[in-house]
Amino acid sequence: MTDPPRGTTGTLSTWHRLAGGCVLLDGFHALKHALRFHARVPVAVTTDQRAALTLADDLAPDVRDSLEALLTEVPEATYRSLVPRPHPTGVAALAVRPSRETGLETLRRMPRRAPVVVLDNPRNLGNAGAVIRLAAGFGATGVVTTGTLDPWHPTVVRGGAGLHFATAVERLTVPELPPGPLFALDPEGDDLRGMKLPDDAVLAFGSERTGLSAGLRARTDHLVSLPMRPQVSSYNLATSVAMTLYHWSATGGAAG
Ligand SMILES: C[S@@+](CC[C@H](N)C(=O)[O-])C[C@H]1O[C@@H](n2cnc3c(N)ncnc32)[C@H](O)[C@@H]1O
Repeated sequence: MTDPPRGTTGTLSTWHRLAGGCVLLDGFHALKHALRFHARVPVAVTTDQRAALTLADDLAPDVRDSLEALLTEVPEATYRSLVPRPHPTGVAALAVRPSRETGLETLRRMPRRAPVVVLDNPRNLGNAGAVIRLAAGFGATGVVTTGTLDPWHPTVVRGGAGLHFATAVERLTVPELPPGPLFALDPEGDDLRGMKLPDDAVLAFGSERTGLSAGLRARTDHLVSLPMRPQVSSYNLATSVAMTLYHWSATGGAAG
């Protein structure tokens, strides 16, 4: 049996010690995004250090030095034992989840320069990840979910491509939602195209199966619709968030 490469033993013991309480960053791009948005990343592995740093040279020179300092090369079999599903880039890392207090403070701080997105009892983990990625891209203040879905579930984090660290992400009940005028998206609402969404808006979207809950409707200030031909019942949840955030940015909302 060959000895593990130097540093591997310490890296693996750190990994096993932290894995339960940390967020798995699955793949090069998730790690790159997390580092860009100042995640604390105590441990990172790769099956091919040279390939990972070549990717960094091409796609992420801004975090190349951090990656070089952080990554430990491990054998393929070791890497496979650490992740549920191997990623094509052969990179994985653990990041410290931001505290709930910090997230809530960000979400509740007023005045607010960018909306909060609320997913009211979402069911699909992939949709939640896609929405977090959108919120990060548009510079939204955060994403709140109501209901049982955990917005930090590993599948959501995978869908969010490491961008949970670029926006506040928390689960709350409807009465706990952040302050601000609540615009709820529903095909029965007033046409979004005639509106300007304020920067302090709370933008709420219904569940994939049942739409907006009664509790959320009761808290709604404005019911808003996206343009859609009458024969079409509804759009996909993440697509609806994309159109709404785009409308906010195209009508003067903060842009990157
Ligand atoms: C897949 S849809 C929900 C469909 C569900 N069967 C229903 O009864 O509403 C998920 C969410 O996307 C948003 N959405 C989808 N199409 C929309 C539209 N044309 N206008 C406004 N919001 C829409 C709404 O927030 C909706 O609750």
